Amino acid sequence: MNIDWGALPFGYHKTDFNVRCYYKDGKWGSLEVSSSETIDMHIAATALHYGQQAFEGLKVYRGKDGNARLFRWQENVKRMTRSAEGIMMAKVPEELFKEAIFKVIELNSKYIPPYGTGATFYLRPLLFGSGPQVGVKPAEEYAFMVFGTPVGPYFKQGFRPVPIEVIRDYDRAAPQGTGSIKVGGNYAASMLPANRAHEDGFASVLFLDALEKKYIDEAGPANFYGIKDKRYITPCSDSILPSITNMSLEQIAEDIGLKVERRKVPVEELDTFEEVGACGTAAIISPISKVYDRVKNITYDYGNIPGPYTTKLYITLRGIQEGALEDRYNWTTVIEGV
Ligand code: PLP
Ligand code: COI
Repeated sequence: MNIDWGALPFGYHKTDFNVRCYYKDGKWGSLEVSSSETIDMHIAATALHYGQQAFEGLKVYRGKDGNARLFRWQENVKRMTRSAEGIMMAKVPEELFKEAIFKVIELNSKYIPPYGTGATFYLRPLLFGSGPQVGVKPAEEYAFMVFGTPVGPYFKQGFRPVPIEVIRDYDRAAPQGTGSIKVGGNYAASMLPANRAHEDGFASVLFLDALEKKYIDEAGPANFYGIKDKRYITPCSDSILPSITNMSLEQIAEDIGLKVERRKVPVEELDTFEEVGACGTAAIISPISKVYDRVKNITYDYGNIPGPYTTKLYITLRGIQEGALEDRYNWTTVIEGV
């Protein structure tokens, strides 16, 4: 095995094993280990036709002390449960979720990137309707699978400010739709505007609320925050994914003396922020250098150096995830034996 850990992109890298579990006749079977990268599916599976599918994303961080740690994995189970409820899928019990992720880590421990490389081991739990339906209704059978892959930072710039673009001609999710759960359709809906933004030199997009196009929703696959006057301000909206990273940053922000405001954030408020960033498991914290509003022809500029609060938030979050700082809230789980 010869991996250049420091050069890893945020992408798929083959590992040795994944795990799979099937729900049939109203109950989950036992977890199976597989070394195959492919799956056999029913041609009429609801996941393929009607998007009955949800996923999660969480990371294993190798610390300076040599220990590998998971960050707030219980929150991912809760979110996957909400996703399952939201599109009428069988729910994955916490114990099964736990067994699956720990098994994948244990069986692929040689793929956990060393400390200091900027890379991590990313876990992808996946739940989908595997049983057939032709009418639009929930499947009677489900599959739950987890694979892991070593990854580098989502934005190749790492902890360097990136430009993003306000989107006014596409929506990723509707106010009472599926934006607050982690289902694949939300990501399909984001691809056209994200692709256009990339082609135009932006690292990501900034979606606005679909109803009025007045308020900031999300920064592509990450939550948005702005900082001004010692306040950490982040959108409150029914159509954004409740980010576990953002939830953690709100606590850290408070701990470093910022007042936290979770409220509607009018897009014009971009003009008043001292620092802005995007946060998520994949993105960690990505500072934002510029926000361009193509329709209004306005550019909001925040500079090419991460701001002081963004830097402090980033260092604190990484420090907790890697075990270098005190884990006051018991967010991390040390994985024994890997
Ligand atoms: N928003 C979207 C749309 C996402 O896909 C993600 C990633 O999971 C996030 C926000 C960040 O959530 P978390 O911090 O739980 O990874
Ligand atoms: C994550 O941050 O884990 C995500 O799922 C975002 C992603 C779609 C890249």
